[in-house]
Amino acid sequence: MNPTGGLLWHTRAWRRQGAWRGTCGQIGQWLGQVRPSSRELLIIGASAGWMMPSAWLQRFEKVSTFDIDRWAAPLFRLRHGAVLRRSGVDLRCHTRDASGRLDEVLGEHPRAAVLFDNVLGQLRFLHASIDTTAACLDRVKRSVRRREWGSLHDAYSGSVRRSGGRLDTPRMHQSLQAEGGALGGAEPFGPALARFSAQLEAKGEWLDHLTSEVFPVGTAVHHIAWHYDRRYCHWLQAGWVAPL
Ligand SMILES: C[S@@+](CC[C@H](N)C(=O)[O-])C[C@H]1O[C@@H](n2cnc3c(N)ncnc32)[C@H](O)[C@@H]1O
Repeated sequence: MNPTGGLLWHTRAWRRQGAWRGTCGQIGQWLGQVRPSSRELLIIGASAGWMMPSAWLQRFEKVSTFDIDRWAAPLFRLRHGAVLRRSGVDLRCHTRDASGRLDEVLGEHPRAAVLFDNVLGQLRFLHASIDTTAACLDRVKRSVRRREWGSLHDAYSGSVRRSGGRLDTPRMHQSLQAEGGALGGAEPFGPALARFSAQLEAKGEWLDHLTSEVFPVGTAVHHIAWHYDRRYCHWLQAGWVAPL
């Protein structure tokens, strides 16, 4: 059983397309600002690309997706294949572990940019301990040091107070990755992020997805709210990194 994907994920993503529109729009907005120099893209944890706009993928000559879920490849082709075919993009969908075998995958695609698509924040569910998750994230960061790469991932998630059934998506915010995290490490939030965090209406303690140091210091980090359902919300962070 894959706790980060699989049929349950696809069913939920399909049913909640309307409710997730605000979040997907903001992901599209963030991607729209990203101007990769590479003509080839690897998407790790692509699933069916439920939250990914096809339009952004059209800028590439070749897109290769990787997911351990066997439903991901056919569903990704179903959702994005026709548009990409019409614009001449060479789409290859692989069922394969691409975070455990990242160096191998990168070696096979030496000139490709890499997008970790909502997968790095999920690694803590796939590893036995916080230490092994942290070691895996460190390995990932080292592997992509000389690449152009980006990630959209969970920073935190948890319960929210129900606000009369209203689930407006708060506006996206931007900050710079500081030493110790995109929230400014030990510093208190700036006013914009404080407002953003208040808008999430968190209830109780939230889960730390251990991604606070994924991005190098100085990366522009976008903060995006994702109401997974009426009671549970994810604080997503997205950033794009130039090679060292
Ligand atoms: C939250 S879902 C991603 C959602 C996806 N980006 C979308 O827009 O629909 C996380 C995905 O990561 C995949 N995954 C987890 N570990 C992986 C690994 N080692 N290599 C490749 N994919 C992995 C899961 O199977 C799952 O489909």
